[in-house]
Amino acid sequence: MTPTQNISLKPFHSFGCEVNAAYFTTIESSQSLESALDWCKQHNKPFLVLGSGSNMLFTKQVDALVLKMEIKGIQKTNETASAVYLSVGAGENWHHFVSYCVQKGWGGIENLSLIPGTVGAAPIQNIGAYGVEVKETIENITAYDTHNGEWVKLNKLDCDFGYRNSLFKKEKNRYIICKVDFCLQKQPKLRIDYGAIREVLHQKEIQNPSLEDVSNAVILIRTQKLPDPKKIGNAGSFFKNPTISKEQFEALKIKNDDIMAFPISDIAYKLAAGWLIEHCGWKGVKKGNIGCYEKQALVIVNYGNGTGQEILDFSKEIIQSVLEKFGVELEREVNIY
Ligand code: EPU
Repeated sequence: MTPTQNISLKPFHSFGCEVNAAYFTTIESSQSLESALDWCKQHNKPFLVLGSGSNMLFTKQVDALVLKMEIKGIQKTNETASAVYLSVGAGENWHHFVSYCVQKGWGGIENLSLIPGTVGAAPIQNIGAYGVEVKETIENITAYDTHNGEWVKLNKLDCDFGYRNSLFKKEKNRYIICKVDFCLQKQPKLRIDYGAIREVLHQKEIQNPSLEDVSNAVILIRTQKLPDPKKIGNAGSFFKNPTISKEQFEALKIKNDDIMAFPISDIAYKLAAGWLIEHCGWKGVKKGNIGCYEKQALVIVNYGNGTGQEILDFSKEIIQSVLEKFGVELEREVNIY
């Protein structure tokens, strides 16, 4: 294995910042992963795993071997009367995989249509949208455990999934995901309770939606609300929706009657970070090349040649003003390098 040296990462991440990696290689198989990790050991260099770079902010040059995951393949491993089991390479494009399943009539991930990224990255932050999280369809994950130097097959329960969280995020850089096993439903129960989906289906006068109708509704909502990373640099939601206590929510509600939040237990609420940011006046604000997206305040955009550091600084200003106004500390959802 001979890596490419001093390569620009601009085409390999959705913020499109100009930043170089010292070493770069593509990973097409578990064997090529093992050779790349051997190279790191021999040359005493760290590694950095990259899917399609859609949740990544580079604030400095990468002095590491970038492993661009390109392990492909969608394989049916089992089928019952009600379900189908699929084993999917980490380098498959997520939306391509969703579309493939929708076309086949296999349900469970249609609400996650058009989410940028790869299949291998999906479990790391347990991608979620419109009332569905990917953890609901994952069975097992095959990964290389770099701490012990061995291949492991982790069951969904081992993965410790939570809201935009998992074992892979908690133990950063330990596991390199190569394959994800899914279980999808042949007679799926569609999840159309989310307001925006219901509205689109109603507008289109669709009473008995198919998987494809739901997928198309999600695609429409996302294209209307979120910037296309091919046109404007961004990484989707930059922050997580914060969880606060019931007491804190009730105190906030007194001063902010229209605050957007929903209970997640008897003692906790999840707040819409987009609402908080908008109500600090950030929605649509531009500072040089960087801005807060005009249609969804949770998204930070790079309008041109902004640097990762500028984006990080802009996000710090947002965090600070939300903290000052509402007493709530936003946490970034994007991975910072
Ligand atoms: N809101 C505002 N102002 C804004 C944005 C949102 O007031 O600028 C309010 C809306 O009124 C709405 C509420 O916040 O009532 C929720 O907004 P939305 O439905 O757009 O969802 P979100 O909580 O902002 C989350 C995910 C998105 C996902 C959507 C849809 C996180 C961090 N983000 O956003 O995921 O697409 O729900 O389910 O949980 C991503 O992770 O990159 C992403 C785009």
